[in-house]
Amino acid sequence: MRMTAMPAPARPAVPQHLAIVMDGNGRWAQQRRRPRVVGHRAGARAVNLTIDFCLQRGIGALTLFAFSSENWGRPEEEVGALMKLFLNALEREVDELHRRGVRVRFIGERERFVDPIRARMATAEAQTAGNGRLHLNIAASYGGRQDIAAAARALAREAAAGRLDPERIDQAAVAAHVALADLPPPDLFIRTGGDCRISNFLLWQLAYTELWFTETLWPDVDAGLLQRALDDYAGRERRFGLTSAQIAAMETPA
Ligand code: IPE
Ligand code: IPE
Ligand code: MG
Repeated sequence: MRMTAMPAPARPAVPQHLAIVMDGNGRWAQQRRRPRVVGHRAGARAVNLTIDFCLQRGIGALTLFAFSSENWGRPEEEVGALMKLFLNALEREVDELHRRGVRVRFIGERERFVDPIRARMATAEAQTAGNGRLHLNIAASYGGRQDIAAAARALAREAAAGRLDPERIDQAAVAAHVALADLPPPDLFIRTGGDCRISNFLLWQLAYTELWFTETLWPDVDAGLLQRALDDYAGRERRFGLTSAQIAAMETPA
């Protein structure tokens, strides 16, 4: 897949790249009068279901918001439980993902994780590096603002070293330094849990992404719901700042 700063206007039937804010685990557990961690555990099942769905539908890239930079501020007990679940999932799932041709990568501030988790992340990436059926990107300790700030730092370092003329820093240069630079930006964004916000997910990358929100809590997600989002997406017209007539002209073969 090739990265493009501004994708050509198009209306592909199926998104190439799907990005999901998996929200509502805590409320799912609270509704059942169970501790929040029970919701996170149930949420892991929905992750597997979503990966299956993407493989079946031929979606080339899936980026999941698993843990935000801001989520470190949650109660210690919840953060600890999430870390344990994350490590367990890494230990349990990666061989099977590899067998199915999934390339696993992590975006976010990796240095904030403890060594055993960082080691597992590196192993998962190395083991699956040659796969291309589905690019699975896990956003963990990720923040969109932090991502853009890191890109600015990298560009500033190049400029300070005399390797880059500051006047040549354009959107393509920034796009090349943010996370997921080698993938097309997400076509479709889904957020479960009923809140209509981005919560510091992929800020740069979502500039022209189609947004879709649902009240359904993440652990209750099923293939039918994902298909509804895809059906809605298929009916939209992506104009990228142009007019509807211009888009129609581009879609009609000459
Ligand atoms: C999303 O579910 C998972 C993470 C943020 C780790 P929440 O834990 O935010 O669930 P709610 O929003 O409190 O229901
Ligand atoms: C966004 O959910 C982060 C993840 C799903 C990992 P939050 O629950 O952290 O978002 P807010 O706090 O409702 O904005
Ligand atoms: Mg939440």
